[in-house]
Amino acid sequence: MKNYLTVKNIDHLSDWVKTAMEMKKDPLRFRDLGRNKTLALLFFNSSLRTRMSTHKAALNLGMDVMVMNIGKDGWILDFEDGSIMDRNSAEHIKEAAQVVAQYSDIIAVRAFASLQDKQSDEAELVLNGFKKYAGVPIINMESSIHHPLQALADAITIEEFRKTKKTKVVLSWAPHPRPLPHAVANSFVEVMQMSEVDFVLTHPPGYELNPQITGNCTIEYDQQKALENADFVYVKNWSSYKDYGKVLHQDRDWMMTENKLGSANFMHCLPVRRNVVVEDAVLDSDKSLVHAQANNRTYAAQLVLKKILESN
Ligand code: CP
Repeated sequence: MKNYLTVKNIDHLSDWVKTAMEMKKDPLRFRDLGRNKTLALLFFNSSLRTRMSTHKAALNLGMDVMVMNIGKDGWILDFEDGSIMDRNSAEHIKEAAQVVAQYSDIIAVRAFASLQDKQSDEAELVLNGFKKYAGVPIINMESSIHHPLQALADAITIEEFRKTKKTKVVLSWAPHPRPLPHAVANSFVEVMQMSEVDFVLTHPPGYELNPQITGNCTIEYDQQKALENADFVYVKNWSSYKDYGKVLHQDRDWMMTENKLGSANFMHCLPVRRNVVVEDAVLDSDKSLVHAQANNRTYAAQLVLKKILESN
């Protein structure tokens, strides 16, 4: 595998999940694999879990790691071909990507959607810029459209906690005061489409995700109906895709509560706003898998790094 940009780069999901679960039992088994190899972690946006779990994963494989908060400490980048750079941007992606590649064997990039310009966000300028010009493998640590490390960790978590072969998983939209990107929801939808589960997506009208991502998955606008007999309830906010990047309304009654959750397991990628997205009683209960999800971020990243190191 050259790059890990979306969950579509996973060839056999069940094999990947199995391997990650094995790796979790003995995380230092491949500690010589990454010897004398360097991973660059480039952050255009904030992170806690992605940064620390990917760093930890690389250390488990014996890699050296360099972290750059490029959005805060780097030069403002330009992405246009033929650009006359007489405004804010000080460096072109062509130079930046090739320079970082000289210091690194693998580059991991986090660059969120702006939520201002759908066309520009969907062009994935930062991720694709590094892919085009760096010439070394690229890992997506959340881009405008995808968060594939999170989705792989979520698939591992569901496998660990599922009790039946055919389990019901619901992705439920939640209220949030600020407009949030679609990446987590998109990648979760995609990974569920690759899984042996009964998957239902629920959100208020107006919050439809990109139909090219949701395809023919079941969408139920009645949250209560969607949650019936659920085994896993993944809760996440996202802004409108059609009215791009807008918070249409708060719909506070979509918050996940203990009563609505019933006997299902609760999932969220974190960070989460307590008592807005989900009530304390859920997060503080033994139904909450959020810490297990965060823990599995390490093994998802470690598996991706291992596959890239083995094939490059
Ligand atoms: N879930 C997740 O990606 O967390 P961070 O934004 O803290 O990395």
